[in-house]
Amino acid sequence: MSRTVALPDGTVVPVLGQGTWHMGERGSAAKAEAAALRLGIDLGVTLIDTAEMYGNGGAEEVVAEAIAGQRDKIFLVSKVYPHNASRDGVPAACERSLRRLKTDRIDLYLLHWRGSHPLAETVGAFEKLREVGKIRAWGVSNFDVNDMQELARLKAGAACATNQVLYHPDSRGIEYDLLPWCAEHSTPVMAYSPVGQAGRLLRSSALREVAKRHDATPAQVAIAWGLRHPHVISIPKAVDPAHVRQNAAAGEIVLTEEDLAAIDAEHPPPRRKQSLEMR
Ligand SMILES: NC(=O)c1ccc[n+]([C@@H]2O[C@H](COP(=O)([O-])OP(=O)(O)OC[C@H]3O[C@@H](n4cnc5c(N)ncnc54)[C@H](OP(=O)(O)O)[C@@H]3O)[C@@H](O)[C@H]2O)c1
Repeated sequence: MSRTVALPDGTVVPVLGQGTWHMGERGSAAKAEAAALRLGIDLGVTLIDTAEMYGNGGAEEVVAEAIAGQRDKIFLVSKVYPHNASRDGVPAACERSLRRLKTDRIDLYLLHWRGSHPLAETVGAFEKLREVGKIRAWGVSNFDVNDMQELARLKAGAACATNQVLYHPDSRGIEYDLLPWCAEHSTPVMAYSPVGQAGRLLRSSALREVAKRHDATPAQVAIAWGLRHPHVISIPKAVDPAHVRQNAAAGEIVLTEEDLAAIDAEHPPPRRKQSLEMR
């Protein structure tokens, strides 16, 4: 998968990545999880998304094992909890993440969702981490348009590199306003749960029909569907090696107008503002 997108600072990143939610929760599964991430990396999926929250730090430790010896080819994303997003809390949380990740920098550090600490304080702390090289860029997650507007009004707010939000064919409210807003401001959207957490979405008859036409699976079609938009980065999570292989190949699938119409018919686009969904 070779398609890329530029962040606002000009850094070019792949549009397909690997998620890690629920990794690092059970010690017995850690080896298989790290092996899955390594397989993905070998297949060219070098953007990895994690968070201090996942597995209570355990996911970052799994990532450390997966990227050992190949840190330089990885674009590493992690997230700070809202309750840690204060002036002093951000650098402390970042240090803990760096220790678990066994690296000296995070490429993109996100505020996981909005909490009670003032945004200006969080952004100030992110900027300081950037100046000293502990992080290369920062962004947000689960921000709706009003939050993005508030962020954009802050000093350094324009440096926000991404907004990571829920996006898949059964959850497309962001197409009404947030996705256009982000595109206009050259801020890529990172789509989480792109295969709908392997739930009802993968039983969609439209996705199955389109998958058949492309000799693909419904999950691959869901990923390709998100990536049809030039400002979207998709971060499916997979531990099963067959899933990892499928997902790595999904970026090559180009959906036709007919495919998109079939998906629209079963999963209609929003006609009015919907408040941002979270998982
Ligand atoms: N910022 C946020 O608030 C937020 C929220 C949610 C998620 N995220 C990030 O986004 C990532 C992805 O979202 P997610 O983990 O919620 O959901 P997801 O990627 O939509 O779904 C993951 C589930 O789908 C299965 N799966 C993956 N590829 C598949 C395939 N090709 N065919 C069939 N099943 C497949 C996985 O199974 P196996 O693991 O068994 O292979 C797993 O059960 C997360 O891991 C996390 O990094 C961020």
